[in-house]
Amino acid sequence: MPKIAVLSDIHGNVPALEAVLEDLEAVQPDEVLVGGDLVGRGPQGTAVVRRIAERGWRTIRGNHEEYLLTFRHGNVPADWLHAAEWSAARWMASELGAAEARWIETLPFSIASEAAPGLRLVHGTPRTTREGIGPWLSDRRLGEHLAEVEESLLVCAHTHRPLHRRIDGGQVVNVGSVGLPFNGDRRAQYAVLEPGERPGEAWRVELRQVPYDRERILRIYDETGFLAEGGVTARLLRLELEHAAPVLVPFLKWSEVRGRRPEEAEVGTFLELYEPGEPLGPFFARLFGS
Ligand SMILES: [Fe+2]
Ligand SMILES: [Fe+2]
Repeated sequence: MPKIAVLSDIHGNVPALEAVLEDLEAVQPDEVLVGGDLVGRGPQGTAVVRRIAERGWRTIRGNHEEYLLTFRHGNVPADWLHAAEWSAARWMASELGAAEARWIETLPFSIASEAAPGLRLVHGTPRTTREGIGPWLSDRRLGEHLAEVEESLLVCAHTHRPLHRRIDGGQVVNVGSVGLPFNGDRRAQYAVLEPGERPGEAWRVELRQVPYDRERILRIYDETGFLAEGGVTARLLRLELEHAAPVLVPFLKWSEVRGRRPEEAEVGTFLELYEPGEPLGPFFARLFGS
């Protein structure tokens, strides 16, 4: 049966992508699909887009392609153009080459596998790139997302947390993130999918984890100037890489609740209250309850 590899959320991390490319040499998939967020939240957007585009792998857009294009078109609120917390976004938008920007403009919202019928890939949910499907959702909620598509296998990404669940009507898979996982596992993550041999049989789903040289991407943060010029946001993204857990969004919410702009000087205080990797639900409950 055909083997389909789906990788997503590379987030400007070439060392992680290269490790997955090497792993694919061993897996030998019949088709590779890419689920968006090649850019954003990392310093090597241009290089990642080139490596994917030159292979001709069919790719959809994520919310981070949309953000960077919006930025390049200047369709952003005025403070995004000078506020410190947006300096990383400005840096990434200007890092993106013109040819690479034109390429991501062409990316569709969703694609189906050509090697095997019955697989639909979206970035977030079948309706939006900005909301995600994760392990916290009930079977009923997953079923509602699956019911939005014609296929019996819904494949998504965006939450950076891998998931595979069989439910009535089919299967839902989140392939996780190549470049910036949030599930506490620092390895690059993607999925290999094979249809069942008989009609109606479930897909075989393999969630793969590939070790890579994480010190190299941390050095690239320094060498490219992303860390120095990307302000508080680049610092928080580096912490996400180190912990394989969300830090940026919890910090932004914490700053918002305190009525303060996100500032680099506050990161230390924040890390006394929030342990990267701790469950976000209770943290937000504490935050909004206080
Ligand atoms: Fe992402
Ligand atoms: Fe995303």
